[in-house]
Amino acid sequence: MSDVISRDQKQSWFYSDIVKEHFFNPQNFVMGELENPESYNATGKIGSPACGDELRVWLRVDPATERILEFRWKTFGCGSAIASTSMASVMITENGGLTLDEARKLRPQDIMTRLGGLPPRKFHCSVLCDKALRDAINDYLRRSNQPDRMIRESARVIDPVAKVTDRDIEEAVLEGAHTIELVQQKTKVGIGNPSILPAVEELIRFYKEKYFGATY
Ligand code: FES
Repeated sequence: MSDVISRDQKQSWFYSDIVKEHFFNPQNFVMGELENPESYNATGKIGSPACGDELRVWLRVDPATERILEFRWKTFGCGSAIASTSMASVMITENGGLTLDEARKLRPQDIMTRLGGLPPRKFHCSVLCDKALRDAINDYLRRSNQPDRMIRESARVIDPVAKVTDRDIEEAVLEGAHTIELVQQKTKVGIGNPSILPAVEELIRFYKEKYFGATY
């Protein structure tokens, strides 16, 4: 028996026991208003282009060691976003907390592995916490006057004819389009401009490796 059946009854999927545990008992979740907001020295916010859901995070960073001592969060996202962010908050703060540089190296696939996997159609939900964390780290560096250490991830136009950016290709891969044909179906990239297809294939490889691992 599946855990979830899609509205059109065409798809169904399971969640691991760890995903269910974090969904029903989310760690470091902010219920209602955040208490003592002045004790946090960074905040980040991100919305998902795939589904419109939003995630907000707050960090308490030790300025001496740059370790993340607290990671609190709030989302109006789905169960997978809740479970992924809950697990991320544990991984980031356990054993004294990751440093900012260590936290930047945490990949969505590390979180998914520790959750015991997520259904493929839910991968994009686990990326929300990664992006909100990066936004919050930039916020910490901005507030602590270290702008040269900030990493700005702005969208780059790949196909000016179809108006497709690298972000659009990233979202397509996260939604399960893992071949050039499937990415073209979703984005129309390269249809009037085939000379850019090798660059698109390179990006598909890059995002597959980033989110699903080298052996995917
Ligand atoms: S469907 Fe929106 S975060 Fe999962």
